[in-house]
Amino acid sequence: MNLFKQISLKLKYFLGSLFYLGYAPQAFLYSRKRDCIERQFLTPPAGEGFDSPGKLLQAEPAVRGAHFYFERAELEVSFLAPDFVRVDWFPGIPPVPYGICRHDWPEVEKALEKTDEGWSVSSESLKVTVGVDGSLKWSDSAGVTLREELPPRRKNEGWVHQARLRKEESLYGLGERAAPLDLRRPKDGRLEGKYRMWNFDAAGKYGPGSDPMYICIPVYLGLHEGGSYLVFYENSFEAYFTFGEMATADFQGGGLRYYFAAGEPAQLLERYTELTGRPPLPPRWALGYHQSHWGYRTEQAVREEAQGFQSHNLPLSAIHLDIDCQVGFRAFTIDPDRFPNLGSFTQELLAQGVRFIAILNPGIKYSRQSNLFLEGQVLGGFCRLPNGELATGPVWPGWCVFPDFTNPAVRKWWSRQYQYLLDVGVAGFWHDMNEPAAFILWGDRSLPKVTQHYMEGRGGDHREAHNVYGLLQAQAAYESLRNYRSHERPFIVSRAGWAGLQRYAWTWTGDIECTWAALRQTVATVVGLGLSGIPYSGPDIGGFQGNPEAELYLRWCQMSSFLTFCRTHSSNNAEHRTPWTYGEPYLSLIREFLQLRYRLMPYFYTLAWEASQKGYPPVRPVFWRDSGDGALWGVDDAFLLGDALLVCPVLEPGARSRKVTLPKGRWYSFWDGSVMEGSQQVELEAPLERIPLLVRAGSILPVGEGELLTLHLYPPVAGTCEASVCSDAGDGYGESRLDQFLLARSEKGLELSWNQEGNYPFPYKSVRLHPHGIVVQQVCADGTEVVCQGQPVECERFQHVRISGEFKNRC
Ligand code: GLC
Repeated sequence: MNLFKQISLKLKYFLGSLFYLGYAPQAFLYSRKRDCIERQFLTPPAGEGFDSPGKLLQAEPAVRGAHFYFERAELEVSFLAPDFVRVDWFPGIPPVPYGICRHDWPEVEKALEKTDEGWSVSSESLKVTVGVDGSLKWSDSAGVTLREELPPRRKNEGWVHQARLRKEESLYGLGERAAPLDLRRPKDGRLEGKYRMWNFDAAGKYGPGSDPMYICIPVYLGLHEGGSYLVFYENSFEAYFTFGEMATADFQGGGLRYYFAAGEPAQLLERYTELTGRPPLPPRWALGYHQSHWGYRTEQAVREEAQGFQSHNLPLSAIHLDIDCQVGFRAFTIDPDRFPNLGSFTQELLAQGVRFIAILNPGIKYSRQSNLFLEGQVLGGFCRLPNGELATGPVWPGWCVFPDFTNPAVRKWWSRQYQYLLDVGVAGFWHDMNEPAAFILWGDRSLPKVTQHYMEGRGGDHREAHNVYGLLQAQAAYESLRNYRSHERPFIVSRAGWAGLQRYAWTWTGDIECTWAALRQTVATVVGLGLSGIPYSGPDIGGFQGNPEAELYLRWCQMSSFLTFCRTHSSNNAEHRTPWTYGEPYLSLIREFLQLRYRLMPYFYTLAWEASQKGYPPVRPVFWRDSGDGALWGVDDAFLLGDALLVCPVLEPGARSRKVTLPKGRWYSFWDGSVMEGSQQVELEAPLERIPLLVRAGSILPVGEGELLTLHLYPPVAGTCEASVCSDAGDGYGESRLDQFLLARSEKGLELSWNQEGNYPFPYKSVRLHPHGIVVQQVCADGTEVVCQGQPVECERFQHVRISGEFKNRC
């Protein structure tokens, strides 16, 4: 790096740091004030609690299961589906159902029986045995024990719930975590994971081990030799989860209501998202590449950025505008001096296929000069302290007040604010600082815990409302976009959230540090989010603060090309970072990966459609392929993209090869078609220009280039496989179609049949078949021979194709 560049980077860093320092006096005052308020109003927890529910006195059948009366507590077991049960322990305040999407469940056939251990309630696939001491044992229809729960303890206003864990058991989820994927083994395989449930601004930069993070969700998936299960606690209070010898959930308040599902990981996600909501199909462009930087101050800067992508022949779908496009960093403003013709500017970008995304923080400047502040005041819509004062805290615009999103009238008012930005062509919104975050010098980075909330009329305080704050802001935004721009699908990115966020928004993994360790962390964080129901996420490519070396940025781009949300973003004190920052060969290598991402769009889009139907995250843990294989449970340096692709990013500096743990089956190299047998660890080459990318035998990978659709056929080892391609206009709520392909392998070759559903016209002019692992001799489409000179084979539309040839790999 030349001297001038070094000096300018140092200067930028210095100025950026000064910018943060400017908030120190307010942060000091706020930290003091918050402590003072909490000292004054935070009353010692009421209720004495008890160490056990006492003896079981009586059991009686209920519509969905059974009701049990203990000496000091009551228990209700309700089957929502044969493999899905809700458990309620009383006493405790019932939750406001912010996380829940489905309330009407069909009745389930179940039986209540007296047993030697107590009572059992069972369906055709799941049995829960209730001990006379209040312990619960879950077993499947074959009698295998899935989980054993101790009698719960009531601690003041909250509950402590514990389950015994098997030695080999692994646990995943809890929302967004900067931990290894298996949350029980954060260090050297020791059993000692501790996690806090309290959405938290991991301000500035965080790295592996930081806890908590922006999105905490009390849901986890357990995997052991007997099977897998999922537990979701419907309780938004602050809590501590410990995964050691036992799984302990320690809630500071609220009732003990939880849901238990049994089955394969895919089935668990299906149930969990049936309960908390499925992610709607996003607009197709959102699956492209996004560019962002804290530092686009003017229309011209954004224009030049978009032109940079054009002149470097790089694809670009959206540019994200950070707080410096605003007037004094205020929500719902865009500076008219620096963005003088926003309406025509967003159209100019759109003509190049680029969407304008605007940032939005929930904190409203505490100022009588602000209409938003005055309107919110008239509505009585801001959070208040127990003494009736407004709850204020410093954020980017200075002292702010905070809308109480737990009030439906406030959500409605907030919804209206998006309208004029939508009218001038803003395509989507980026919700930041919505834990909610406030600047502090010590203590918690949020509102005082005693801050009052409406909670849909039932009343409550910040201890309960904090974790759902970002979720409810996202709900208001989603409803706004559905209402004011009903012909397009909403695009919202939210930093904070809770169970159900997937119904409204995507997320990104916040202010991650700019290191190789952080790159590695991203895999586990994103996969863990997916297992917590949130399928659309990705990191700031290259890290938030600091300047990655060229190789780190390249490896980060290569990995992120296969994540659902692919966005470069960097801080105001970091070098402005784009795919061309590092010159050649990096620019060309990044271009290749971004272009590959766009070619894989039919695959990405179909995965997004699948997520909207079943809740499966497109980015999956490697064990998704075979949850019975213990060798895969701890793998968090690779991930599956759908069922077909195994993505193995390079996570170490200078590495030119890496170890890959292959699930069962046969695997093809995406790059050269070479074949590997599964259930083993292999060392694969990873030169700078590529990362190991494998395709599972038994996949049909759709690749689109303009009007050509290529189906890459990777024959199954034996038998058949199928795949779908979902197409529609790419946005809006019009017609769609599903092209379903069935591939059968026989001694003589392959047979491919094509079944079509839906009214949207087929969007490709021609179809090409590219069979792998077979030397093609003859191809017949619907009985007519197709002229072919080896692979690939050009076809018209067909119903049935027969490909005769010699397989290269015989079993
Ligand atoms: C927060 C966000 C970051 C953003 C910055 C300024 O730190 O996490 O992405 O650039 O605020 O708005």
